[in-house]
Amino acid sequence: MASGRIAARRLSNVVTAFRLTPSRVGSSSAASSSSSASASRLVADRIVELTAIDVDGVRHKVKGLTKHTLLRALMNHRLIDPESHRLDDINACTAECRVMVASEWLDKLPPRSEEEYDTLAAAATKGKVDPHDRLGCQIRLSSDLQGMVVAVPEPKPWRIP
Ligand code: FES
Repeated sequence: MASGRIAARRLSNVVTAFRLTPSRVGSSSAASSSSSASASRLVADRIVELTAIDVDGVRHKVKGLTKHTLLRALMNHRLIDPESHRLDDINACTAECRVMVASEWLDKLPPRSEEEYDTLAAAATKGKVDPHDRLGCQIRLSSDLQGMVVAVPEPKPWRIP
């Protein structure tokens, strides 16, 4: 009987504690479920589905988010080794994020910047840049790129373990 009273008192204390912050408890859980629903809706709205073809010809479904780079999506799917990139400075980079974009998507991409072209040219065989060559770090995903197909070239020989 005494233990029942103690349990009731503890329960009462817990209820009192919650009552001390009713707006926080009530609104935060409502706000939290509402904000998490809107956050997941926002994330769902931002998903861009791509296909990446690896060096063995295997097609991978890749999901990225709008405003993120293609490189980030490919790294998240382990199709490009994050260790091989210095992501902040294109001029310090050796184009190891290079991808080849399928023809039908080339016109949907903004043109290459001078730095992007120069980086690709510096890394290309005999300085020849293929029209399909782009740097994954320079492509920002957008809903226009939904379904884009890219090929991920072989890593440079010095990057193969
Ligand atoms: S990450 Fe180095 S050129 Fe793109």
